[in-house]
Amino acid sequence: MLAWYAKQGRELPWRQTRNPYRIWLSEIMLQQTRVEAVIGYYQRFLENFPSVEHLAAAPQAAVIDLWAGLGYYARARNLHAAAKLVVEQFGGIFPPSPEELQRLPGVGRSTAGAIAALAFEQRAAILDGNVRRILCRLFAWQEPPRSSAAEKQLWQWAEELTPQARVHDYTQAIMDLGATVCLPRKPFCDSCPLHELCQARRLGLEQQLPLKQKTKPVPIRYETALLLEREGRYLIRRRPANGLLGGLWEFPTVSLADGDAAEAKLQLLMHEFAVSGELQPLGSIQHLYSHFRLVLQLYRLSISDWPQVAEVENDWRTVAELNHAALHGAHKKAVGKIPATGE
Ligand code: ADE
Repeated sequence: MLAWYAKQGRELPWRQTRNPYRIWLSEIMLQQTRVEAVIGYYQRFLENFPSVEHLAAAPQAAVIDLWAGLGYYARARNLHAAAKLVVEQFGGIFPPSPEELQRLPGVGRSTAGAIAALAFEQRAAILDGNVRRILCRLFAWQEPPRSSAAEKQLWQWAEELTPQARVHDYTQAIMDLGATVCLPRKPFCDSCPLHELCQARRLGLEQQLPLKQKTKPVPIRYETALLLEREGRYLIRRRPANGLLGGLWEFPTVSLADGDAAEAKLQLLMHEFAVSGELQPLGSIQHLYSHFRLVLQLYRLSISDWPQVAEVENDWRTVAELNHAALHGAHKKAVGKIPATGE
């Protein structure tokens, strides 16, 4: 694997460093998110927050605004909380052991193992989605991959296989093998350095393993948003810092229960804002969040007077500005529905 990695490994921005802050940041961003999506964010974060002290000292809103678009926003809040903890309790120094690293919010067993291995050359194992798939195939694990028995067995294999020396390279190698060769659907077994050891391959099961999880159906939420326009700018509000999608921006929104008519609900919101006029329907969009699917109906309303309503943090933005704002997923898509002439 090390020989394969030396030839075929990817050059990624966080691989030139052994700096624990940089490695921790990249590992948090790479949880549930693809390398290509992460690279730009990683570089912007480091420009804005070159050290854990800078990150800890920043207002939470600044961290969330910079995270906008990466998704799974609990990571951004945990990132900020962990930076503060490192500064306040560990004197700004990341601890080298996986056990202590796991005390940081957002750092689970696998992420702690990755940081310990990559930054500190500790003999620590990782078990992320890619490694899970590799091990299920290598050992032809023909049981469900997420049971507690599987968890125990896979961690044991992961730990046994982790070498004493060159742990950094081994860890990057197994990540790359999962990302570029041992692919979920059509693995490139002919290019795999573990080819001759792979039990799934020997049994012709490489495409069947790991066994598929039964996925639970996600609930659907219905909401309607008011795209309130005044002199080419649209009103957005920041969601409360704690709770679902905390700290992100959105157009004013009301939720719809079964049978609610969107326009009637929006009239209540318009009443609250003391604005009136004709609602222009802009269609609807859907967005899949981690625990639900959101169906969002969009209406535009053009006004000339805005009787300042004292309420949550809000702002008026042009469409160009909205394209860079820290809106959450559905509302980012909503910006694309604003008619060009309506600016
Ligand atoms: N996924 C998680 N950590 C990674 C890393 N360090 N390099 C590439 N992909 C990863």
